[in-house]
Amino acid sequence: MALKRDFLLKLFLDTVKSDMLHLGYSAPGQPLAWADLPAAQLAYEDRMVGLIPEATSSILEVGCGTGHTTARLQRQGLPVQCLSPDILQKEIIEKKFGRSIVFHNTTFEDLDVDGRYQLILMLESFGYIALERCLEQCRRYLTADGRVLIADIFRQDRNREYKSFHVWDDVVAATRSHGFECRLVEDITGNIVPTLDLAASVYAQFVVPIVDTLYGAAMHSIDKKKLKKLPLKLARALFQKKIDALLADAHQRVPTILSGDYFAQHARYLIVELRPVAEGRPAA
Ligand SMILES: C[S@@+](CC[C@H](N)C(=O)[O-])C[C@H]1O[C@@H](n2cnc3c(N)ncnc32)[C@H](O)[C@@H]1O
Repeated sequence: MALKRDFLLKLFLDTVKSDMLHLGYSAPGQPLAWADLPAAQLAYEDRMVGLIPEATSSILEVGCGTGHTTARLQRQGLPVQCLSPDILQKEIIEKKFGRSIVFHNTTFEDLDVDGRYQLILMLESFGYIALERCLEQCRRYLTADGRVLIADIFRQDRNREYKSFHVWDDVVAATRSHGFECRLVEDITGNIVPTLDLAASVYAQFVVPIVDTLYGAAMHSIDKKKLKKLPLKLARALFQKKIDALLADAHQRVPTILSGDYFAQHARYLIVELRPVAEGRPAA
């Protein structure tokens, strides 16, 4: 699987001024302000790191982003290695940690190293990873007394809006067939929804007018150049139709996807734990 460079990530880091790439955890039903997002993201990290016992002997953090959580685990004296397939994240991790960390610049699907871990931690990375292969790799890399801790969005149904996330029923079935006990630790949908509502309002207030203005300006400047050749005129007409349709679709769908109410109807944000079932014992 090819390594990637995530430009949206760069945009996020430059605008939010936070190097945490997960949603915020805040009081259900209370609107979240833009300025409070980094604190809510920190509260999310507090919640997840609080679930890790101090005596954990080895951790693999899968999809470590810019290494914010990794650094915290390291400061707490926990032996952690981290992984991301992204090239920009690799550069950030190398700058942040130098040689003080083992970083695997690969997808989890392609990870091929010796050793096992007592904890595999996935904060908002599970949805990116092919389900069956992810569970094979968890079996391969987990110690017999180990566990996988996941925090992510799970679809409740097969609607297309959240199709980049796994369907909860599929996860439960697949974890069983790979010999895991799958336990729901907590449903934190209500704590995540304020961040989604905030993102929806930022999209409507800033993204839509900025994108539309830039697009309008680009079309205007092409018009001013008076394209004379017929093939170019045709190409422009075709191109514009497609972009118009894409923008109209995005402007209609993105607010829906980000709306907390719509999200809560079709998806859940769950903290989940997987434990390997001992040989010969059926999964619960
Ligand atoms: C939303 S970010 C979360 C980052 C970090 N865990 C955090 O909470 O800030 C998703 C992470 O998953 C990584 N990722 C994407 N596809 C992956 C894959 N196939 N295997 C492992 N990690 C992947 C991304 O590069 C990124 O680091």
